[in-house]
Amino acid sequence: MKRIETERLILRPLTVADAEEVFLWAGDPVVNRYMPYPVHQSVEQTKQWLSTLGDKDEFGFCLKETGQVIGSGSIKYVEEYDAYELGYNLNRAFWGKGYATEAAKAMLQWAYEQRNARKFMARHVTKNTSSGNVIRKCGFQFSHYGQYSRYDGSETFDATYYTMQMK
Ligand SMILES: CC(C)(COP(=O)(O)OP(=O)(O)OC[C@H]1O[C@@H](n2cnc3c(N)ncnc32)[C@H](O)[C@@H]1OP(=O)(O)O)[C@@H](O)C(=O)NCCC(=O)NCCS
Repeated sequence: MKRIETERLILRPLTVADAEEVFLWAGDPVVNRYMPYPVHQSVEQTKQWLSTLGDKDEFGFCLKETGQVIGSGSIKYVEEYDAYELGYNLNRAFWGKGYATEAAKAMLQWAYEQRNARKFMARHVTKNTSSGNVIRKCGFQFSHYGQYSRYDGSETFDATYYTMQMK
């Protein structure tokens, strides 16, 4: 079952019913600055995205204390790297409290156990240093510098790539 419990969070699949809370970050240009997807323009657009998730390994991060969905992340197999890629983003009101690292570590462990994942990768826009902190705290090692582009090709960023091998 896709449900992970950490000290302060429950990670579970997102549904269309989460749209209002998801839009708080998916529609925030500051959160979106270095993300590959275009910033959402309306809750309707967020609903549409949520309706496409199906059984993808995308998790909503819910605060145990209040039930609010404060962020989301994914752990996806990427053929090009033959590795599972970690990704995440968080409602800005909840930055600086360790939630992203807590959720990221939990998703990595989940993929290890449930997907038999052993090789992982992560990348961040080099300027986006707070994401680099999350990645390193999860135990990733620097691999190389490269670039990545937004899905719509509108921007290409200098990026830092990391890998991690678990036994
Ligand atoms: C990337 C992102 C998720 C990082 O968020 P974050 O709040 O910095 O990361 P965490 O939730 O792990 O919090 C870590 C910070 O909380 C602090 N913190 C406070 N209380 C804490 C606690 N109880 N436990 C752990 N850390 C705590 C840490 O010291 C750390 O602060 P520092 O970076 O100043 O050292 C966030 O900046 C974001 O959503 N950015 C936009 C989307 C994005 O760029 N995603 C990544 C694409 S590669």
